[in-house]
Amino acid sequence: MGRLFVMDHPLIQHKLTFLRDEQTGPKEFRELLNEIGMLMAYEVTRDLPLRQVEIRTPVKEAKAYVLDGKKLGVVPILRAGLGMVDGVLRLVPHARVGHIGLYRDPKTLEPVEYYCKLPADAQERVLIVVDPMLATGGSASAAIRFIKERGCKSIRMMNLIAAPEGIERVQKEHPDVDIYVAGVDEKLNDHGYIVPGLGDAGDRLFGTK
Ligand code: PRP
Ligand code: URA
Repeated sequence: MGRLFVMDHPLIQHKLTFLRDEQTGPKEFRELLNEIGMLMAYEVTRDLPLRQVEIRTPVKEAKAYVLDGKKLGVVPILRAGLGMVDGVLRLVPHARVGHIGLYRDPKTLEPVEYYCKLPADAQERVLIVVDPMLATGGSASAAIRFIKERGCKSIRMMNLIAAPEGIERVQKEHPDVDIYVAGVDEKLNDHGYIVPGLGDAGDRLFGTK
């Protein structure tokens, strides 16, 4: 089964509180989401392999380390996932960005795909799928499936807030994918919203409601 990492770093928890607050408007919401995205990326990349290199400092030769192996890709699930991309790129500026367009059918709550464009060498990259909300898990699970259908194997899921139902679904359908979240909430309500959650992430990010 994929591992679940809950990031309880005080800075992440502090920022998450303001993000949840209904008084927080789109400008602050965007800034906070990107800041948390950057802090989370620090943890998501913690186990990337290093290789030793020889360099020369102004003082003497030295052995030092650089990232080795696979390069990174960030794949936001549209729309709300876009809000986490800049934060991740601030930490790993050379990562390539793919996009997956999905929306939840409001009646069935099942994801409907409308767009998918991945980096040309996505199969050789470690892909971090980003989306603030993991509710029923339908969108995340479908996004991971689309990526796998295109030959990608190394995938990590990064969400801000998750419901237990969504975690269970992704772990069941994609046992090879680790999930990184900042908070696990109580439950889903009858409309598939996370309780207490933060409301509709896409609408709060883009000010569309
Ligand atoms: C939200 C959110 C996730 C999805 C989570 O997107 O950003 O993608 O819902 O729900 P699930 O786990 O039950 O699938 P939404 O469908 O509202 O689209 P939007 O980002 O375009 O607003
Ligand atoms: N999508 C959101 O934006 N919020 C939720 O709580 C659930 C799905």
